[in-house]
Amino acid sequence: MKTIKTKRLIIRKPKMKDVEDIFEYSKTEFVGPIAGWLPHKDINETKSILKQFIKSEDVWVIELKSIKKVIGTISLTTKSYYDLINDIYELGYAINHNYWQQGFASEAAKAMIDFAFKDLKVQKLICAHDESNVASRKIIEKNQFELIKIDNNPKYSSNKIKKVYIYELYNPYRGENK
Ligand SMILES: CC(C)(COP(=O)(O)OP(=O)(O)OC[C@H]1O[C@@H](n2cnc3c(N)ncnc32)[C@H](O)[C@@H]1OP(=O)(O)O)[C@@H](O)C(=O)NCCC(=O)NCCS
Repeated sequence: MKTIKTKRLIIRKPKMKDVEDIFEYSKTEFVGPIAGWLPHKDINETKSILKQFIKSEDVWVIELKSIKKVIGTISLTTKSYYDLINDIYELGYAINHNYWQQGFASEAAKAMIDFAFKDLKVQKLICAHDESNVASRKIIEKNQFELIKIDNNPKYSSNKIKKVYIYELYNPYRGENK
């Protein structure tokens, strides 16, 4: 897994030592539920999820250079075999609520989109947000994703997800787009 560096962030492979930083925000009501997942009940739950992240190699942690602390995650995942063989990946991200509104998710998302298109050469990225999630909508829109579907009956473990806006963005560097 490649490490990606931006002005303020190191986007790198997760390590077990990141568990406390990840638990700090994953246990709250602020971060998980609006992204579709439930708050972690205890640090053991975070540990087991972190083990899956490490194994899967599709989730990176976002480390803030200035304080050497993990303040979130960013992921590129495939939802199905069809997506896998067609190089279609879903972009996801979450930031510790104590670090919101400082442009960290925007900085990480831009770097990851660049990495996905230029290095991984993926064909298409998907990204989605609940209708109430203004911050995520802004990130998606400013990266020129195109709205393709509104899901009025989404099925997530979190009841905060009511209506999901789904977007796509084709790789501008690949010849065979669209
Ligand atoms: C979505 C999330 C990752 C954004 O993180 P962030 O670091 O605060 O995002 P940024 O600071 O880069 O802000 C992105 C834009 O949203 C705006 N914004 C951020 N939080 C906002 C809020 N609560 N209300 C309104 N606008 C907000 C910013 O001003 C910025 O606007 P701009 O593009 O016009 O400058 C963060 O809110 C989060 O972790 N939410 C919970 C998990 C989640 O929703 N993940 C995405 C699943 S779809």
